[in-house]
Amino acid sequence: MSSQPAPALPATIDAVEALLAQGDYVADRALATSLFLALKMGRPLFLEGEAGVGKTEIAKVLATTLNRRLVRLQCYEGLDLASAVYEWNYPRQMLEIRLAEAAGEQDRNKIAQDIFSRDFLIERPLLQALQADENGAAPVLLIDELDRTDEPFEAYLLEVLSDFQVSVPELGTIKAASAPIVIITSNRTREIHDALKRRCLYYWVDYPDAERELAILKRKVPGAPARLSQEIVRFVQHLRNEELFKLPGVAETIDWTRALSFLDKVALDPETIDNTLGVLLKYQDDIAKMQGSEAAALLRQVQQELAGLGS
Ligand SMILES: Nc1ncnc2c1ncn2[C@@H]1O[C@H](COP(=O)(O)OP(=O)(O)O)[C@@H](O)[C@H]1O
Ligand SMILES: [Mg+2]
Repeated sequence: MSSQPAPALPATIDAVEALLAQGDYVADRALATSLFLALKMGRPLFLEGEAGVGKTEIAKVLATTLNRRLVRLQCYEGLDLASAVYEWNYPRQMLEIRLAEAAGEQDRNKIAQDIFSRDFLIERPLLQALQADENGAAPVLLIDELDRTDEPFEAYLLEVLSDFQVSVPELGTIKAASAPIVIITSNRTREIHDALKRRCLYYWVDYPDAERELAILKRKVPGAPARLSQEIVRFVQHLRNEELFKLPGVAETIDWTRALSFLDKVALDPETIDNTLGVLLKYQDDIAKMQGSEAAALLRQVQQELAGLGS
């Protein structure tokens, strides 16, 4: 993206932590270690975990802090090679053929050669990721939510990730000058095949503990009252022990803190919790379960804990 030189890759685990912190990402030591090793060994990092725990964000932060282009392949059911790798620009090719014919060009081979050249190729993320930035650095390739695709696509991906090349029958093989930094994420709606995992370093991104979640809030919602943030973090941590259909992720904690700040709250109270639960919980059954006495009881517990800590 930039013609500014890309910084060198971090040389230590501490440097990885510092780099992520620079992008307002609060990582624990184990994640920083996995990322360090993935960078050092030139292997993709496979991040699995519940929704909203900060998987996608890692790739974004890496691209920003390392001053590299972010190439994102968002996976979905039915994702095909035409959307993931390349496709020929048929309308432009047709037009070119008409123009050539109109100009009296008779040589079919010549026309074919012209229209199957790079100019007529629409490059999709996997092909884009094989090209270096202006500054010569390889990009960060984010393959997001891989669990949404199907197995044939996974098999193809395995091939690309093995030698970072793509073969276009009409053109030949396109190979990356230097391999991109690859981050793969999965929300684990299905298991990813062993063969693909074997190519990668694996890390399970868990919900943060209270201390780390508070540190995340300090960075992401710096204006929030300290007392409010503390109560929110403890409340959400307790909520994650409940039997719910969908537990709140870090994204929801951040949203809730922003929401309550907008409402000028400096601490939690039962009525405000009831009225804003929809920021935290996204299923009516979960909201119905927690609203009222359940939420009030959780809040009392939180307040007692904080009183016990003397804050
Ligand atoms: N460790 C963290 N440090 C800073 N922000 C975080 C962290 N974990 C999650 N977030 C924030 O939570 C939100 C959701 O993260 P995201 O990466 O989209 O989740 P996922 O991809 O796991 O579903 C983002 O706004 C991100 O900034
Ligand atoms: Mg994500």
